Amino acid sequence: MRFADTEASGGQDLSRAAELTEDALLRQLYLRHALDEFRHARLFRDRGLALSRAARKGASASRFEANWLSPGERGLDELRIEAGPQDALLAFLHLSEKAAAGRFRIYQEVLDLDLATQAVFKEVLQDEAFHMAYTYKQLVRVSPRHHGWRLWQARLGRLWKVYLRLMVALASAIGTVLLLLQYFLLLPPFALVAKRSALKEQRGWWRRPPASSLKSQY
Ligand SMILES: [Fe+2]
Ligand SMILES: [Fe+2]
Repeated sequence: MRFADTEASGGQDLSRAAELTEDALLRQLYLRHALDEFRHARLFRDRGLALSRAARKGASASRFEANWLSPGERGLDELRIEAGPQDALLAFLHLSEKAAAGRFRIYQEVLDLDLATQAVFKEVLQDEAFHMAYTYKQLVRVSPRHHGWRLWQARLGRLWKVYLRLMVALASAIGTVLLLLQYFLLLPPFALVAKRSALKEQRGWWRRPPASSLKSQY
């Protein structure tokens, strides 16, 4: 279902890119790409629904998600569409599609026991290979001299995002450890003191002792 969300939002971004570009060929290709991503979203959603229905009926499904590591067609979810030169966008799209194709190939290979899901990845993979090829071809067309540099820029951007994702995961792990340490090391002394002072209190309802002095508030 998460793959479906990523694909659908990628489709929306590509529709936006098609609206903004002034290059007729690119507009056509972006629209076809957007339609592909919407189709992928539907394929993943249908398969996800079927799997969750099956899980509800029978054996319990594993809920582990390494989402920060592999949320499907990673990259398209971080797309910022702007009007202007298309080479940076094409380089970014090319690398995202290449990474997605590589990952979907692995998913497809390891899903021998689930043929229906394997078929979904197989179908999606064919389109991703096309997306990968056309984005590179168009990048070379619109930026014949600088396409290599554009690809390196996009690669560095992706590396930076991977670093940020890792650091966010690390920060959350450190936060969990620190909170656990606080809970088990700092709280017990306070709990002990509170318990001891509770023992000194009288149990139940009791009458307040008369005020010792009329001048005092208590
Ligand atoms: Fe896709
Ligand atoms: Fe794609």
